[in-house]
Amino acid sequence: MKRKILITGATSGIGKATAVLAAKNGHKLFLSGRNQSALSELCKELHAVGYFAADVVQAEEVSQLVEEAKKDMDGIDVLLNNAGLGIFDPLENANLADWHTMIDVNIKGVLNVLHATLPHLIESKGHLINLGSLASHYVFPNSGIYCATKHAVFAISESVRTELAKKIRVTTISPGSVNTPFVEQTKNNDLLDQLRPSFAAGMPVEWVAQQIVNAIEVPEGVNVSEIIMRPFRPEH
Ligand SMILES: NC(=O)c1ccc[n+]([C@@H]2O[C@H](COP(=O)([O-])OP(=O)(O)OC[C@H]3O[C@@H](n4cnc5c(N)ncnc54)[C@H](OP(=O)(O)O)[C@@H]3O)[C@@H](O)[C@H]2O)c1
Repeated sequence: MKRKILITGATSGIGKATAVLAAKNGHKLFLSGRNQSALSELCKELHAVGYFAADVVQAEEVSQLVEEAKKDMDGIDVLLNNAGLGIFDPLENANLADWHTMIDVNIKGVLNVLHATLPHLIESKGHLINLGSLASHYVFPNSGIYCATKHAVFAISESVRTELAKKIRVTTISPGSVNTPFVEQTKNNDLLDQLRPSFAAGMPVEWVAQQIVNAIEVPEGVNVSEIIMRPFRPEH
C-alpha cells in the first residue's frame, strides 16, 4: 500500500536516502529540513508532493510544516522523525551550548514534530518512526550527552507505543555508525580526525534506508517496534 510520508532531516544522510528509496517504491512524500535549496532540488528530483523548510526546534515553524504536509498529501500516514545531530567532545571542557543544542534538536525537536503530527497519525491509524541509535542503549565516551538524547528518543517511542499501541505503529530505528555527513557537526578537530574513519567505515546509508522502508511496508497485522543495526565486518 502506498503511504503518505513526512520526513524531517530529508536534506542529507538517512532522511535523504530514505526519501529516494520511498519515492522509488511509489510512496507520496513531503520533505523537510532547514536547507531550502536542497529541499527544492530533492523535491523536484523525486517528484515529492511538497516541501517546507523548518527548524525542528521552532514549534511554530513545525506546526506550519505539519499543516502544509497534511494539506498537500491529504493526510499523513507515516512520520519519519529523523532530524538530529551529534556534537562529540569529552565532558571535561565541553561547550555547554553544544549540550543544549543536542537537547534542543534531538529531544525538543523530536517532541515538537511528534506533538504536531500525532493527531494526524491517530486519524490515519498511521506509523511513527523515530531515529534512535545504538546510543539509545549504550553510553559511549566523548558522546555522553548525545547518548542521553538518544536514550530519551527511545523512551519517547516506547511511551507512545505503550499508550497508543492500538491506534498507531511505532518504530525506533537504532543504527550504529552510518556513513553520512553526521560526524562533521563535531567541532573538536582532534576527535573529528579520530572519528571520521570510523564513520566512513560505517554502514552504507542505503542499508538503513532499506530497513526503514521495510518497516513502513510490513503487512497490516505487524508492527516492527525496533530495528537495531550494527556494522558487521567479519575478519578475513
Ligand atoms: N550517521 C550515523 O552514524 C547515525 C547513527 C545512528 C543514528 N543517527 C541519527 O540519524 C539521524 C539522521 O542523521 P544522519 O546521519 O542522516 O545525519 P546528517 O546527514 O547530518 O543529516 C541530518 C539531517 O537533520 C537535519 N537537521 C539537523 N538539525 C536540524 C534542525 N534544527 N531542524 C531541522 N532539521 C535539522 C539536517 O537538515 P538541514 O541541515 O537542512 O536542517 C539533515 O537533513 C539523526 O537523528 C542521527 O542522530 C545517525
